[in-house]
Amino acid sequence: MARLLVLGGSRQAAAGLERLKALGLELVVCDMDPDAPGFAYAAHRVLASVYHAEECIPAVRAFHAHTPIDGVMCLACDVPHVVARIADELGLPGIPVESADLTVNKLAMKDRFQSLGVAIPPYRAIADVKELAGTLAEWGAVVVKPTDSRGSKGVSLMRAGGDVNWAFSNAQENSPSGKVMAEKYLSGPQVSTESIVVGGEAVTPAMSDRSYEFLDRFAPFIVENGGDMPSELDDAVKHDIAALVSKGATALGISQGIIKGDIVVHAGKPYIIELAARLSGGYFCTHQIPLSTGVDLVAGAARTALGETLQPADWNAKFERHVSTRWLIPESGRITGFSRPEAVLSSPGVLAFEHWAEIGARVGGAMNAAASVAMVQATGNTREEAVRNAETALDAFALTVEGD
Ligand SMILES: Nc1ncnc2c1ncn2[C@@H]1O[C@H](COP(=O)(O)OP(=O)(O)OP(=O)(O)O)[C@@H](O)[C@H]1O
Ligand SMILES: [Mg+2]
Repeated sequence: MARLLVLGGSRQAAAGLERLKALGLELVVCDMDPDAPGFAYAAHRVLASVYHAEECIPAVRAFHAHTPIDGVMCLACDVPHVVARIADELGLPGIPVESADLTVNKLAMKDRFQSLGVAIPPYRAIADVKELAGTLAEWGAVVVKPTDSRGSKGVSLMRAGGDVNWAFSNAQENSPSGKVMAEKYLSGPQVSTESIVVGGEAVTPAMSDRSYEFLDRFAPFIVENGGDMPSELDDAVKHDIAALVSKGATALGISQGIIKGDIVVHAGKPYIIELAARLSGGYFCTHQIPLSTGVDLVAGAARTALGETLQPADWNAKFERHVSTRWLIPESGRITGFSRPEAVLSSPGVLAFEHWAEIGARVGGAMNAAASVAMVQATGNTREEAVRNAETALDAFALTVEGD
């Protein structure tokens, strides 16, 4: 039985871990939280913070010395650079450390894409508020972001007259290295992609139209409230997106593994906002993609991590089913009540529901991806019906918040 190390045992990782265990893998799960839900599927536990390489790697090394692992991957956490270092040190299959490092630094990634002619929005490093003000004047609308954070933390959309002082410090405070960058804001549909790269060829079974219904309500924060599959974009555009992701993966030096993309289609042409060398979070790879396409990229990631040679043709979508995800993003205040999950699960078309709301917990309004308290996925005969079913189900959760 192959022994696979998975970094991340959070609630969002649990369903993926359950599936990997069902495949017959002996799982070693690494997480800093002794109560991590994912440990339920682990044959072995490594207690360490996956976000701290200096803590995680020695703990894995010590484990491997007595119980050797055959492969390593991450689930529902953004640590491809730690995965790559472990694989490199232990002689396991993986992507080059240099490639992984490019994907966790937005500026370095964009520099690489720019130098190899991969389509991206105009961007630049921003040293101070004055430079940001000049950039805003030049581009009209800019996205200000930390070069090295995640989950939209520190990201804001500035339009003419916006508070550049605030935007700069908000990005800087959320950057571990204190570095800020800006990109020209490209309007247009946003798409999440997830691909598996097999022998240098990227296959993209999944594209989801991201929902930014509340862009104005949450401004200047950019908060996604869900996504719909299959994508409604024209086949020609979808083809261009898949080709762009493939070109991007090659530019990063990745010939095997998973690539998750954030794409914007501006004036009919796709641009890469970001590629990540890992599986998606947010119940996308574990729930929405398999429910909508029949493709299990979690298994694909595990098999790649164990060095198995895969066939590209096996990873195309097997069917297309309407599946919409919606996140429940409450107004700020304290949670005073909500109904039982059964009420949501029995709502029409519901495929999956998870919540992490707690009575009395303070919810801070929408600042980033962590602003939600529940997630539902629903299906329907049409996209409209799937969305309506998801919205009705969230209403059935009946969350109440008291302002303070
Ligand atoms: N140049 C751009 N043009 C249009 N929208 C953008 C641009 N840059 C970022 N965005 C929007 O802001 C979101 C967050 O930006 P980015 O992906 O750079 O940050 P992040 O911290 O990795 O967030 P996330 O985890 O949501 O991907 C993107 O997913 C996209 O919707
Ligand atoms: Mg991103």
